[in-house]
Amino acid sequence: MQNFTFKNPTKLIFGKDQLEQLKAEVPRFGKKVLLVYGGGSIKRTGLYDKVVNLLKEIGTEVFELSGVEPNPRITTARKGVEICKQEGIEFLLAVGGGSVIDCTKLIAAGAKYDGDAWDLVTKKAFAKEALPFGTVLTLAATGSEMNSGSVITNWETNEKYGWGSPATFPQFSILDPVHTYSVPKNQTIYGIVDMMSHVFEHYFHLEEHTDFQDRMCEGLLLTVMETAPKLLEDLENYEHRATILYCGTMALNGMVNMGYNGDWATHNLEHAVSAVYDIPHGGGLAILFPHWMEHNLGVKPERFKKLAERVFGVNPEGKTAEEAGLEGIQKLREFWNSIGAPSRLADYDIDGSKLDVMADRAMVNGEFGRFAKLDREDVLAIYRASL
Ligand code: NZQ
Ligand code: ZN
Repeated sequence: MQNFTFKNPTKLIFGKDQLEQLKAEVPRFGKKVLLVYGGGSIKRTGLYDKVVNLLKEIGTEVFELSGVEPNPRITTARKGVEICKQEGIEFLLAVGGGSVIDCTKLIAAGAKYDGDAWDLVTKKAFAKEALPFGTVLTLAATGSEMNSGSVITNWETNEKYGWGSPATFPQFSILDPVHTYSVPKNQTIYGIVDMMSHVFEHYFHLEEHTDFQDRMCEGLLLTVMETAPKLLEDLENYEHRATILYCGTMALNGMVNMGYNGDWATHNLEHAVSAVYDIPHGGGLAILFPHWMEHNLGVKPERFKKLAERVFGVNPEGKTAEEAGLEGIQKLREFWNSIGAPSRLADYDIDGSKLDVMADRAMVNGEFGRFAKLDREDVLAIYRASL
């Protein structure tokens, strides 16, 4: 295990009827608040009215930025930065899924930066400071509610990159499982795939002696796999929504990956696909991850065997580590198929015509992946296998 320092400053407020906590949290940061939300789901569910009423009750001056896209765009973040600078916004409140939160992070940092916010995403500049912001999460998936990461798309140039800084942790996040009841089945599935993929990204690393971390990862995966089919049969089940919501946060808030660095190549591969085709992040991961695993099985077969045995119930007796590992990968495919996740790029009408463009995007910073370094040939091989 490597040395590590852990700090996660986000206050997590979890459970039924916790929205009221806005009245105690928001005034700590100011009166002028920019409310950021997406394409309208919060209006349909009534959450918008509840939030606005609570903010009004405490005398907040509310400004709004709506229409944040899934795979949020730099153009929308720029609009938010402009509002912050013009109106002297003191605090931002993101109400929505990962996209709304990610966009809010860039607005918060962009408001404190003199140049174009895209510089922060491309790492031309570093976000030293940001306006404070909080979140009301409505979709279990990304972990953005309790981490400092943000993923932004530039649709004009077909680029999608992750960025972040210690200044972009939410001050608080309110997670009421009831707010996720209305998430449609397909988005629920994408969220489940995304949180499982975050754990896989952690799990594939080259560090030795991460026994406790491995067990946390395995426990998280087992819990999600046990709960997902039950939730998908009963989308308004409080306990199942709560379990999945909690797992999504824990998968990417730094808790299970102290003392080592995971691989993260598959996320880079997926961001390059969704930069070019605008597909849902979780859908892309469901297609790519099993192929990344097969491609890299030989790097450290024991690792794949461990996952296969402990999470997918593979009996390794009489099998090589590779054989057992491969069986585990097949079981992962079967599980994702069973819950209705996509398995081929063709499911999104993606053919081989832009493989080179996607590979260019993925390779923008050269070879990548910590468990297995991928070069251009590897990238193309994984994309081709995924068609
Ligand atoms: O826009 P609205 O109308 O709100 O609808 C959204 C959107 O269409 C809808 N939705 C959200 N909550 C709902 C709901 N519909 C009904 N009821 C509700 N309660 O769901 C759709 C998808 O929302 P989105 O926020 O895009 O989904 P998700 O949370 O999966 O976020 C995906 C984005 O996060 C990035 C992805 O790349 C992608 O851009 N990621 C961010 C990460 C991070 N910041 O740490 C890590 C992830 O790996 C990921 O890359
Ligand atoms: Zn993800």
